[in-house]
Amino acid sequence: MKRPAPAWPLPRVFAHRCGGALAPENTLAGLRIAAAMGFRAVEFDVMLSADGSPWLIHDETLERTTSGSGRVCDTADAVLRRLDAGTYQHRAFAGEMLPTFTAAAASCRELGLMANVEIKPAAGFAALTGEVVARHIVDLWPGESFPLVSSFSEVALEAARRVAPQLPLACLWDCPPADWQQRLAALGGFSLHCAANQLDDDILAAAHADGILVLCYTVNQRQAAESLFKRGVAAVFSDRIDLLMGI
Ligand code: G3P
Ligand code: MG
Repeated sequence: MKRPAPAWPLPRVFAHRCGGALAPENTLAGLRIAAAMGFRAVEFDVMLSADGSPWLIHDETLERTTSGSGRVCDTADAVLRRLDAGTYQHRAFAGEMLPTFTAAAASCRELGLMANVEIKPAAGFAALTGEVVARHIVDLWPGESFPLVSSFSEVALEAARRVAPQLPLACLWDCPPADWQQRLAALGGFSLHCAANQLDDDILAAAHADGILVLCYTVNQRQAAESLFKRGVAAVFSDRIDLLMGI
């Protein structure tokens, strides 16, 4: 199976959920802060609303990070558009709105940020979310370097691959299963993303033998990141981008 790769050089650090811990997660403020601090790449999560539109949000429910309540997949765009997604972190971010995927893509392009788009389907919506996100990516990054597309859901990744086989894909596993290589190969995946504390050297050796890059989350200490790079990890996702500047 063909294995599409990003057309941009992979940086060492991806700001996790847009701006890591320095901004409310999955917001345009996070993108601006990551760029202002000199980072070239960000990761964010994309989920569908009740109208089937893609929005940046991590949880299936609105309560933790927004002024709304209920399930994202049960909430209409008109309601999501009015939500505050900044105050939960700090009142200095009051008025920061929940961003659409379209707005986030435009902001990435303006700020010169490369993206790892994590497809985050609500339960029961894996294939649809994969399709919608992939179609949006093809429209939102016209003739440009596509983002790296990852998911914990292989159903979502397979759906994305079906509608846009040119996109670089990555499988996310907290702890990679024994047959991770076959599963990644079946999707034509470019990279393996896993929890830093679940990574063992056998996984790294097998990945390297196969030409697969390994990326780890969530790495919030400089020494831990340096040690992972020494072991052969290609890049890390971090909430503490302030501690990983210039690494
Ligand atoms: O993509 C890496 C990381 O974002 C996966 O975990 O739960 O923060 O989306 P989560
Ligand atoms: Mg994520």
